[in-house]
Amino acid sequence: QFAPVILAGGSGTRFWPRSRRARAKQVLALDGDRTMIQQTLDRLLPLSAMEDVWVITNELLKETISEQLPGVPDAHILSEPSARNTAPACALAAFLLEKRSPDAVIGIFPSDQVVGDVARFTEVVRAGVALAASGDRIVVLGVPPTRPETGFGYIEQGEVMDAASVPCDGIPVRRVKRFTEKPNRERAEEFLATGNYAWNGGIFLWSVRTLVGAIREFCPAMAPLLEKIAAAHGTSQFAEVFAELYPQCESISIDYAVLEPRSAKGELKSEIYCLPADFGWKDLGSWAALHEHQMDIPALTGCGGANVVEAGKSLALEAHRNYVFAPGKAVVLLGVDDLVVVETEDSLLITTRAHSQDVGRVVKALTEAG
Ligand code: GDD
Ligand code: MG
Repeated sequence: QFAPVILAGGSGTRFWPRSRRARAKQVLALDGDRTMIQQTLDRLLPLSAMEDVWVITNELLKETISEQLPGVPDAHILSEPSARNTAPACALAAFLLEKRSPDAVIGIFPSDQVVGDVARFTEVVRAGVALAASGDRIVVLGVPPTRPETGFGYIEQGEVMDAASVPCDGIPVRRVKRFTEKPNRERAEEFLATGNYAWNGGIFLWSVRTLVGAIREFCPAMAPLLEKIAAAHGTSQFAEVFAELYPQCESISIDYAVLEPRSAKGELKSEIYCLPADFGWKDLGSWAALHEHQMDIPALTGCGGANVVEAGKSLALEAHRNYVFAPGKAVVLLGVDDLVVVETEDSLLITTRAHSQDVGRVVKALTEAG
């Protein structure tokens, strides 16, 4: 049995002004007609029944997500009493499944990514599920790195496994030598230079047994809290117990909490394996990333000059690489390059592609200032 767990706890600031706290990017249709969380679910359906899907989110997004994913059982859409980063969210799903289906394989799926080739995604994840089911093994997906990005985890690749020793459906499986979350610039550059590292795609596959075991080993303070929450699940006490104990879990990402320390056991003992995420993986982290992603959509790039314009009509003259979102408006770009302009009913963002990484930080400051 395969239980996909979709993580959707974003704070929704980097895509301001389209995203707001209650309208984080996961529930926006940034790319096409389906929202990011709908696309995340759509690509899991060849692999899993709707009833086996779980979503871990927050109270602000819960209602919208329930509406957007009508097939997912409401009891499987959990909203955290407070955001504790990804380790408690992943662990929560595992502890809830521990009694019912300890042999199930849990897949952790972020909801801030796009996948170009869904058929290939299906093949790779299917092979990963089989591998994760075959022992106390953690499966990660490695993306070929193209820049010394400091916002990702890095996977140092070890030996290629012999096809006879691991189930792999013809997909190359490599041992993971070392997992390093968010290295500084200097280390990221070193990693890239060796040619032996992949970015962590943020998707993890492991049996329920392996995940609860890892939490008990590496997060000993968190485990008993989650055990109590799981024991209360389905009873009238649940909401109260969840609200009291979950905020006591350490706020830490699964990468720092489990992947890094487990990889430090050495590649043989850690049993972490990497499959290639060779399916057009992209993390949509900023307006500039969305611009890049939408460069091959003719309806949006029709005005030429590598501009991406979502508007009623658009005309570009001596203007290049701009991103404009102004649906229904007539947009003229004249003699400007590398701008990001996003208009909503009550707000307007004007920045550059190079600054779009910082939108989240600035907007946080704006909202904190009131
Ligand atoms: N429910 C819940 N609660 N979800 C959360 C929380 C939380 O407190 N925090 C983050 N998430 C969700 C996000 O919405 C996203 O879908 C996913 O978990 C990953 O969290 P990010 O905050 O986006 O992580 P990251 O991008 O910094 O790093 C992770 O992803 C990279 C690839 O995109 C790591 O796994 C990196 O190693 C990886 O390279
Ligand atoms: Mg992310």
